[in-house]
Amino acid sequence: MLIAITGTPGTGKSVTAKHLEKALNAEILNIEQIARKHKILVEYDDRTMSMVIDEFKISDAIEAEIKKGKTYVVPSHLSHFIMPSLVKLCVVLRCDPLVLEKRLGKRAYSQKKIGENVMCEFLDACLIEAVEIGHKKHLHEIDTSKKSAGAVCKEIVNVLNKKKKLEFGKIKWLK
Ligand SMILES: Nc1ncnc2c1ncn2[C@@H]1O[C@H](COP(=O)(O)OP(=O)(O)OP(=O)(O)O)[C@@H](O)[C@H]1O
Ligand SMILES: [Mg+2]
Repeated sequence: MLIAITGTPGTGKSVTAKHLEKALNAEILNIEQIARKHKILVEYDDRTMSMVIDEFKISDAIEAEIKKGKTYVVPSHLSHFIMPSLVKLCVVLRCDPLVLEKRLGKRAYSQKKIGENVMCEFLDACLIEAVEIGHKKHLHEIDTSKKSAGAVCKEIVNVLNKKKKLEFGKIKWLK
């Protein structure tokens, strides 16, 4: 089974994945490493200062890396581009834009880059993409602003165990 953890940079995908690794005895898949191995990194984007991955080729590369019967966690803002048929659960991590601005402020990011990410969070960008790509039937959204990464992990485990219902679309930063 594969769990895609998506969300704006800084929402806590990596720290949550670390907790899930232990809780589910899972393997964390690094999309960048896989993209490099499968040569689907297309270019370096000077504006965002990051490599651009060919979103349409992610699924094939991931499919080639996974084995039946194992549990995988993919923490990446691109993980919702993995085709829904490969995904058991797609989690969109959210964060109050004011809290996110503080978290990103601790990184060596320019004000412009922080602003762009905060705006993406305001506009529900990852959630909208995840819905459009077809993850609705296994989509769950979590506000990480006031929850520890451990608590976020526990909620994901509860969703997998059906102790908690899937839920998305309730978080609105623009009021
Ligand atoms: N639930 C949480 N509560 C408080 N702080 C958190 C939480 N989750 C993450 N953080 C903090 O926010 C920062 C960003 O977390 P993390 O690196 O996991 O984000 P990310 O979504 O993986 O970002 P990126 O997309 O850039 O890889 C870290 O300093 C982390 O400790
Ligand atoms: Mg990360």
